[in-house]
Amino acid sequence: MKEIGMEEIGPVRRRVRNALIQSGILKTSSRDVPLTLYTQDRRDRGLRVIGAVIDYLAPPLVRSIFQDDAPELAENSGRRVLRLIDRQIVARDDNVCQLTFAAADNAKLTPWHAGAHIDLHLPSGRVRQYSLCGDPRREREYRIGVRRIADGGGGSIEAHALEVGQFVEISEPRNAFMMPLPGSASAKKKLRFIAGGIGITPILPMTRLADRLGLEWSMLYTGRHKDSLPFLDEVEAFGPRARVRTDAEHGLPSPEELLDGVDGDTAVYVCGPPPMIETIRRGVGADSSVELHYERFSPPPVVNGSAFEAVLGRSGEVVEVGADESVLTALRRVKPNVGYSCQQGFCGTCSQRVLDGAVDHRDSTLTDLQREQGQMLVCVSRSKDGGRLTLDL
Ligand code: FES
Repeated sequence: MKEIGMEEIGPVRRRVRNALIQSGILKTSSRDVPLTLYTQDRRDRGLRVIGAVIDYLAPPLVRSIFQDDAPELAENSGRRVLRLIDRQIVARDDNVCQLTFAAADNAKLTPWHAGAHIDLHLPSGRVRQYSLCGDPRREREYRIGVRRIADGGGGSIEAHALEVGQFVEISEPRNAFMMPLPGSASAKKKLRFIAGGIGITPILPMTRLADRLGLEWSMLYTGRHKDSLPFLDEVEAFGPRARVRTDAEHGLPSPEELLDGVDGDTAVYVCGPPPMIETIRRGVGADSSVELHYERFSPPPVVNGSAFEAVLGRSGEVVEVGADESVLTALRRVKPNVGYSCQQGFCGTCSQRVLDGAVDHRDSTLTDLQREQGQMLVCVSRSKDGGRLTLDL
């Protein structure tokens, strides 16, 4: 299912190859040239020799050629520009792609641990967060899995349209889903991983690590049907400890099924849609001996919300915010370009300035000073008393 394109040759090799063809040194037609000098096609010994020479010379001599078309970023921006070096479809329904990024000079990247994510700064200016799903031991690449959401905010569609060879800004990895290991940082003796659909992305590196360390672990991987499950082959390769369960075959899972085998010696790691996480939280209930870690990949439901009005201070337009929707959702109906990313109150992208009204701050990100200065994270925070909020928009 791997998609391969000429872009994968990389700029140096492409330029050298083209120069050799144009100068007549390399007598070949484009039809005969392997897609990449690393290709499985080993017929042309000359190309292999050229590839080896380029590999040897590239770091000291050709780095500037590699980098001359890479956009530059301000120092200490917390981001870097990486090149998309590989793109593969990883679900049978074709709706999930795995994107692999590397530095233009193939330098080592900032290390990360299982559970980490990066911000992807898309060419349109949209910012989206994706869990790293590769192997942290592969120090020169970051891999993410992206499910295409046809009726979402457009970020996943844009990510799917990225082309191999394209440069993209990416944040340094951050980890809000740490995995304290049994036997060292955790008093628990075994691990239970539960993934729903694309929620498999942070769970995969965790499971690989647990497996490699010989820890006691089990996994339940759920989704609507097998065709929609990304990385299915990789999960099934773990063997019987990783159980795949689909709604199409078995119906919606009960808390008992999701937590089968979980007891006070277990640390549970969950990533999936909010309803599944709520089911598990209810299933664990008051049993505080179970260590529960979870990460959502979509907004949490609004709890104890009441309807109110948000006023756009610059135009005077009034936006109705429903009791069960976020201010962000309501704003995007009239201002589709309002920026956002995590929709869970931790990235800060959606911050807006409040000109008037009392805010019920529901994030744990803004400092007291930022709140005093009128900032508000509209993806989670609301009006305090159901009164109007006027925003600097
Ligand atoms: S979108 Fe991340 S804090 Fe609101």
